[in-house]
Amino acid sequence: MAARTNQISEDTIRRLVDRFYARIRADPVLGPIFMRAIPGEWSAHLAVMCDFWSSVMLTSGRYKGSPATVHLRIEGIEPQMFDRWLEIFDETCDALFEANESEAFRAKAARIAESLKLSLFYRPDEVWPRRAT
Ligand code: HEM
Repeated sequence: MAARTNQISEDTIRRLVDRFYARIRADPVLGPIFMRAIPGEWSAHLAVMCDFWSSVMLTSGRYKGSPATVHLRIEGIEPQMFDRWLEIFDETCDALFEANESEAFRAKAARIAESLKLSLFYRPDEVWPRRAT
């Protein structure tokens, strides 16, 4: 296996995005959610995700979208799926990056996941986090 890198660049972000979504597609829980939302060509989604991570990690400003709005439309998304998403993301970061850089990605992802989860599922009249029924 190639050595882990401490470089956060457009090139290593591309590698992270490619590997992460290859694993997501193969995941028994998340795979079907993504395949239903993106049944055809994945190149546009992967390009958007590279822009997103480039904006987050390199402050390039390339991503202009609104993740909270986009996730509202995703059929079948559940709060507990975010744990699995983060688990795969963390493992992918650890495989590609050295500890400090991996931790920088992981911390950002965890914060964004929490904020997405709140925007999708938080109801002011319910106890948070919602208890499984
Ligand atoms: C259970 C967890 C998640 C699921 C099932 C999920 C699913 C999806 C799907 C299916 C899309 C494509 C939507 C489309 O093009 O129609 C998407 C887009 C996206 N996701 Fe997620 N996602 C999850 C968590 C996250 C997290 C934690 C982040 C950020 C750290 C994230 C960032 C994004 C971004 C930036 C887009 C592109 C939005 C755009 O088109 O502008 N997602 N997600």
